[in-house]
Amino acid sequence: MSSDIDYTIKNVDEIPSPALVVYKDIVARNIQTIGGLLDGYDRLRPHIKTHKMSAVAKMEMDAGITKFKCATPKEAALLAANGATDVMIAYPPVGPQTRRVVDLAQIHSNVTFRVIGDDAPSIRLLSEACVDADVSIGVLIDVNTGMNRTGAPPGEPSVALAKLIDSLDGLTFDGLHAYDGHVKGDGEPRQTKAKESVQLAVDTRKQIEAVGIDCPYVVASGSKGFDATDEVDGVTEVSPGTWIFWDTGYGEALAFPFSWAALVVSRVISTPADDLITLDAGNKGINPDVPVPHFRALNLDGELEFLVRNEEHQLIRLEPGVKRPNVGDVIYLIPKHVCTTVNLYDEAYVIDSDGNWTETWSIDARGH
Ligand SMILES: Cc1ncc(COP(=O)(O)O)c(C=O)c1O
Repeated sequence: MSSDIDYTIKNVDEIPSPALVVYKDIVARNIQTIGGLLDGYDRLRPHIKTHKMSAVAKMEMDAGITKFKCATPKEAALLAANGATDVMIAYPPVGPQTRRVVDLAQIHSNVTFRVIGDDAPSIRLLSEACVDADVSIGVLIDVNTGMNRTGAPPGEPSVALAKLIDSLDGLTFDGLHAYDGHVKGDGEPRQTKAKESVQLAVDTRKQIEAVGIDCPYVVASGSKGFDATDEVDGVTEVSPGTWIFWDTGYGEALAFPFSWAALVVSRVISTPADDLITLDAGNKGINPDVPVPHFRALNLDGELEFLVRNEEHQLIRLEPGVKRPNVGDVIYLIPKHVCTTVNLYDEAYVIDSDGNWTETWSIDARGH
């Protein structure tokens, strides 16, 4: 294996493939690592879309993490059912999703639910639904700080939304949300870009406070910016998600000390030619959403040429001279995008510190 961690599973013969495997000790180590990077967990609001698992959420809570971010009502329900009391759905509720969020607030009256929003009519509808259900939901304005995916423009338009939210029954104005998925590169240029980007939200916070509205939170960043925006005055929390399992997409781009904690176990199902192997990990087995290379294979040498990729097949050409594995051999794959990989599975095979599969965790919040 080409990693300094030995990912070999002793009883892998008992695991049907393709399978998602999670290394419990490495998850625990990543939780410690992020606590070290952020001087504790007070300012961390991890996004749980990467793992979607009650068992992992519990590990995060046991370590002292008290607030969470998620994308879907299903993830929010998982968090509330497992004892989280501060749950932010970083996704604007529209249509019937509004009712689902309000239902959650009704069912879990001990939990503070927060959502993000950038659209006045949708925010008004949320307010009406909250009033009808006699619940209160926190709203953070999603500020577009450069990604151009969602969000209100910083400055005056966001101030106007703050005034609106502050005036509506059933809602509390909780502050601003700024996700920086557009930040590229690594090192100082990456950090500078992330800081410049979040500064737009921090300046907006000041403008909102200047009109007399309290703006308690600025929740910022994913993995591409959290270390930088954590240092910015006026940012109250950072919200990366992928750090929990890590993947090669980020691992090859960003120099963070996280380790891969979730792999896909695959097997060779055919060897159509001397230099060709077909694995049982197609786009229904590992990150359907990324270009080549779709993964790194820990126990295959040389550069892999990714050929046909179907739902359950991945044809690969090996480099000349590389010993071809046999049909049935296990190949350990590190996903390029672990979040979309996890979502393909109902459960994860959990590997203990001795390298044995000993338990299975449900991926409770897969889907929507
Ligand atoms: C709104 C939001 N916040 C936080 C994250 C977490 O980011 P990352 O996966 O880069 O850690 C994401 C990722 O998609 C996101 O969309």
